[in-house]
Amino acid sequence: MTNEGNDGMPRGPQKQGFLLSFEGIEGCGKSTQLRRLAKQLRSRGYLVVETREPGGSQISEQIRKVLLDLGNSGMDIHCELLLYLASRAQHVAETILPALDKGAIVLCDRFSDATMAYQGYGRGVGASPVARLNRFASAGTMPDLTIVLDVPVAIGLARKRRAGHLDRLDMEREAFHQTVRNGYLRIAKRDSRRVRVLDGTPPIEEVSAAINRLVDVRVSARKAKLTKVESHAV
Ligand code: TMP
Repeated sequence: MTNEGNDGMPRGPQKQGFLLSFEGIEGCGKSTQLRRLAKQLRSRGYLVVETREPGGSQISEQIRKVLLDLGNSGMDIHCELLLYLASRAQHVAETILPALDKGAIVLCDRFSDATMAYQGYGRGVGASPVARLNRFASAGTMPDLTIVLDVPVAIGLARKRRAGHLDRLDMEREAFHQTVRNGYLRIAKRDSRRVRVLDGTPPIEEVSAAINRLVDVRVSARKAKLTKVESHAV
């Protein structure tokens, strides 16, 4: 993982912790799977921090409200992009880097790939400006592993409608979500070691089992750099 200080200068590879992001279109099941994985990892004694984007710190949660507010349908796409990035800058500085420094496994519900998929591809801002801005906002912090839960748009949106709380981005037309889905698949193709695509359509337990297998391998390789806690919630 590359990592830079506030001055944008590299401060060397991140030595501690493990950053795992979950990604996918609306209704792909990532939030449910993140909670299940957190529980499983805690039961094995790992220090686990669950967080999300936009959000994950007090200031970033305030930015989240602005971004997802149904009343803000007139938001300019560049304003939207910069707000996601602003939320990330605060989240990385205040929540993610301190947790990694403590040797935690940080499970993040969306991270920089969401900005690439939604703003870069979905809104058409373009891959290269978003890649540059992503690096700037996250001080070069990249996930060690990213799991994209892939589901067809019709299935994802139907799940979201059943769950009943639609936000500003959920209201976008189907073609937008299709572009986002294709965007995630492109990202995974380009960075196939870090980004793994799993089928999000099987029953929850089956998807969990596939995630656990994948995470086990990656976390075992990093064990020496991860903190174990004596008393842990199960
Ligand atoms: P959530 O529904 O997964 O909590 O995410 C909130 C919405 O924000 C979701 O529609 C995806 C969108 N989003 C972006 O458009 N760009 C980003 O960089 C992030 C993190 C999320």
